[in-house]
Amino acid sequence: MNLKEKMEKVALFAKEKRDRAIIKNPDYSARLIYRWQHTLRVAQYGKILAEKEGAEIEIVLIACLLHDIAKLSDRSRDVEHGRIGAKMVRPFLKEIGYSDEDAENICYAIATHVDGKSDFEHPHTLEAKIVSDADKIDRFSNYRTTVALGKFANDDYESLILAARKRLVRFQKARREIRIQTENGRKAFDEQISLQVVYMERLIADYEISVLPKI
Ligand SMILES: [Fe+2]
Ligand SMILES: [Fe+2]
Repeated sequence: MNLKEKMEKVALFAKEKRDRAIIKNPDYSARLIYRWQHTLRVAQYGKILAEKEGAEIEIVLIACLLHDIAKLSDRSRDVEHGRIGAKMVRPFLKEIGYSDEDAENICYAIATHVDGKSDFEHPHTLEAKIVSDADKIDRFSNYRTTVALGKFANDDYESLILAARKRLVRFQKARREIRIQTENGRKAFDEQISLQVVYMERLIADYEISVLPKI
């Protein structure tokens, strides 16, 4: 099986889990659909970072596509979801032909993508660093900002601007505190945050000039 076929199998595996979770809990449908779209973007970012950093692209792509499997199947949404996800996919990875070594490498990246911690022994790989970085880049996407602010679209202007100010603080904190582990991941993450910061600052500035000009 080539990589394209493996990716298709992995996508099918993930989407079946998602669809079962949606049937069980239709109220979570939007959240679970978002989770798969996020997963696809993480794979896109992961591919670019793997190429730039000289990592094993196949390991990164498969780990990216499975990194949130525990969330996607509504098994876990907390800090443990990486480690739970790694346990969920190990037998499946063997089934589609991965060696023990490759399966462990993929599982390690999934297990550690949230907080860098694993519940099994494994060297801290470049591939794991990239999966974690790719995930963090998409946490601060335009989409997330739009959805977060969209909740205030029908409220008064002040509520929207208050939300924008809070989000601006959050972006600045993320830039300082979120652990990014590769050089190219850092560049892409900073660029992502900078775009959001400029957008928030402009949104707030528009509010502040919604007054008569000073003479
Ligand atoms: Fe995650
Ligand atoms: Fe994620």
